[in-house]
Amino acid sequence: MRVTMIGSGYVGLVSGACFADFGHEVICVDVNQQKVDDLKQGRIPIYEPGLDALVASNAAAGRISFTTDLASAVAEADAVFIAVGTPSRRGDGHADLSYVRAAAKEIAQAITRYTVVVTKSTVPVGTGDVVERIIRETRPDAEFSVVSNPEFLREGAAIEDFKRPDRVVIGANEERAKAVMAELYRPLSLNAAPILFTDRRTAELTKYAANAFLATKITFINEIADLCEEVGADVQLVARGIGMDKRIGSKFLNAGPGYGGSCFPKDTLALIRSAQDYGVSLRVVESVVAVNDARKTAMARKVVRACGGSVQGRTVAVLGLTFKPNTDDMRDAPAINIIDALQRAGAKIRAHDPVGMDQAKAVLHNVTYTDSAYDCATGADVLVLVTEWDAYRALDLKRLRQVMKGAVIVDLRNVYREEEVARAGFDYIRVGAMPKLGKVSVAAE
Ligand code: NAD
Ligand code: UDX
Repeated sequence: MRVTMIGSGYVGLVSGACFADFGHEVICVDVNQQKVDDLKQGRIPIYEPGLDALVASNAAAGRISFTTDLASAVAEADAVFIAVGTPSRRGDGHADLSYVRAAAKEIAQAITRYTVVVTKSTVPVGTGDVVERIIRETRPDAEFSVVSNPEFLREGAAIEDFKRPDRVVIGANEERAKAVMAELYRPLSLNAAPILFTDRRTAELTKYAANAFLATKITFINEIADLCEEVGADVQLVARGIGMDKRIGSKFLNAGPGYGGSCFPKDTLALIRSAQDYGVSLRVVESVVAVNDARKTAMARKVVRACGGSVQGRTVAVLGLTFKPNTDDMRDAPAINIIDALQRAGAKIRAHDPVGMDQAKAVLHNVTYTDSAYDCATGADVLVLVTEWDAYRALDLKRLRQVMKGAVIVDLRNVYREEEVARAGFDYIRVGAMPKLGKVSVAAE
């Protein structure tokens, strides 16, 4: 089938490359000329494991191409996906649909035959109706259907998530459009991916509900972690203990510095706002947003406490800046708020991230960027692990102790083993457990 992706960012590019890999003919469109030029040259504008090889092999096979010319890419397509950004609208937190509307208008002008227009961007309930109206008003003669097909991939694991999803949700109100979507996703159903057909509004809401539920799960365990620290329990064991109950499930129960990224923060907010438009207040989700917002500064306070109550003039080494490992995405990364709060408290920041430092430089200022974890730790009073990149899991703790001035590690992702860190002579403060004081255990040995 002929597929056109409007928007070649994280979702458009990954989805386009995966559809091409399944044998469809894909054209990826973007308004950003530089992005399209890079893609044509085989340069992938984002860091996503495996994406460069996937794009290269499909480009070589002639199944994927890149253009800024939306009209010609749409003209011959069986399905046109809208995969443009839907960021938070400044001021009110509603999803900003201006890119979706603009894409719909351009698609309308370019349609030449029956086309399924698929909203893959995360959009509030009713956006399919808006897209349909725009196309109808722009081109009363056009033959088309509008379908909602929200995307559930995670950054850092995007290709695997796309190719082997837990499910595909397709919201289509017409049989003709359903048939096109079923054909498009046939290769995935061979991978045993269940396809759930719904009406369009249900599909739109399913995406927001999924993200809000996952954000709630994380926020719940984060609050339990706070309690664990007070009562002397261990949140990792609590998470295992509750996660073994199949009704709860073990995933997304890792306590940490609060969720970030390009989806959960903006989508929880957009869901709250669109519910308010219908007179419904989603009080659970509202609490989740408030608790998660407060958590980032609470993490900075945790570092200050670990330093004896003040970081004024102290050097803090921060490991990991992106919102999660295996991505270069800095959108709403907890590191931004944590570093900002520490800087306001008078700390000097040294930082390292395996791939995200260029992106970090655009949002974090007065930070000394370093070449390695050890370089980052050199001369620091305290080391704070913010993002759990694999490269930080097996650090030589004795070497870290030698290069650092202070002897404190604050591990906001619970990746180290307490005994090991304490044995290297550090005070070890993690999330959801009482601090382990290295000096005490060293003395006890
Ligand atoms: P992104 O910012 O990485 O990419 C969007 C791209 O669309 C940009 O390259 C931009 O230049 C392009 N664009 C904007 N207007 C255009 C137009 N009129 N024509 C052609 N190109 C245009 O965004 P993303 O992270 O890929 O997210 C896209 C959508 O998918 C959002 O609604 C997001 O909520 C949703 N989503 C994202 C993820 C994720 O992990 N990033 C996962 C699931 C769903
Ligand atoms: C999320 C959804 O998982 C995905 O289905 C949707 O399509 C897009 O949004 P993503 O933002 O890429 O994906 O990453 P995810 O792995 O969900 O992590 C989001 C945030 O939650 C990160 O900051 C991560 O560190 C945090 N998180 C996740 C936790 O703090 N604890 C966990 O147990 C899981």
